[in-house]
Amino acid sequence: MRIVSGIQPTGNLHLGNYLGAIRNWVAMQEDAAATGGECLYFLADLHAISMPHVPADLAANTREMVAALVACGVDPDRSVLFNQAQVPQHSEMQWLLNGTARMGWLNRMTQWKDKAGKNREGQSVALFTYPVLQAADVLIYQATHVPVGEDQKQHLELARDIAQKFNNDFCPEDAPLFTLPDPFIPPEAARIMSLRDGSSKMSKSDPSDMSRINMTDDADTIMQKIKKARTDPEPLPGDKAGLEGRPEAANLVGIYAVMAGMSIDDVLAQFGGEGFGKFKPALGELLVEQLAPINARFLELRQDREALDAILRKGAEKARALAIPTLEKTYDALGLVRG
Ligand code: TYM
Repeated sequence: MRIVSGIQPTGNLHLGNYLGAIRNWVAMQEDAAATGGECLYFLADLHAISMPHVPADLAANTREMVAALVACGVDPDRSVLFNQAQVPQHSEMQWLLNGTARMGWLNRMTQWKDKAGKNREGQSVALFTYPVLQAADVLIYQATHVPVGEDQKQHLELARDIAQKFNNDFCPEDAPLFTLPDPFIPPEAARIMSLRDGSSKMSKSDPSDMSRINMTDDADTIMQKIKKARTDPEPLPGDKAGLEGRPEAANLVGIYAVMAGMSIDDVLAQFGGEGFGKFKPALGELLVEQLAPINARFLELRQDREALDAILRKGAEKARALAIPTLEKTYDALGLVRG
């Protein structure tokens, strides 16, 4: 079992990242320890330069994201925690895979279509080839499982297509080079929605901070954001079917269920018939209770820049050693002479 996943260090770690991905990173770290598998988790700083950015902010966000991940339970002694920029093999692998990826495949990526909008000509080349780097990120480590939220599913399907085409085109039938990675998407928290609009996902890039719960928000801010979260005027229904067509209510009930480790129906058995005036404070308190220790640890860790840089340096060293063998085999398979 080889588990690989990444997160862009652009802004704060939010509840969508946590419930959609990071909680599974931590859980899989425990599983991997039990089965002798290995976890590699990284900051996708090279992906972050595909959009306009301020260099000083990227550097600061990279260190803050390490602190946040460790505060959430990613253990740098048990998992390999690093940033792409210190493992140049990712970029090398991307170039090698650029020969296999097809323009048509990239043109169909919904993230590319959403982010580029009508102004495709004005986008960076990096935004277009972004999914090839993501494929390189996982294929270079022969990842078997990739814990992510729903929005990354299409990118991972592309990684599988690239791996399959490369294996077909350049490897003997009985000795494929690349493992096909399986996305691991939590069914109950695959897509946490914005607190201001139940039809768009909770995201770092939403200009309104009220749309998301940051893992670093203090108790007052969390209570305030939940209180102000958009809802409808109806009381909560008694069962899951009653959430149909009520995206904001469904989102808040879903968050409660995952945080409390309950099913949606159990949450509704408890709160069905109640208005949001009763449900929202209960949800706020649950979030505060669970996020407060993470927040406290984050505030402590973020102060020690040396220690954060040391974590990344050590992680990158381990990652490079794990990346090199597959990279070398890829050069060989393509007929590139390496002396
Ligand atoms: P990023 O930085 O946008 O998000 C990190 C992880 O959080 C998940 N996520 C969500 N899950 C549920 N609900 C939400 N509202 C929500 N928002 C974000 C994402 O699905 C992701 O798992 N391209 C990736 C980073 C990346 C990567 C990789 C991931 C680069 N290389 C290789 C896996 C494997 C990204 O921008 O994630």
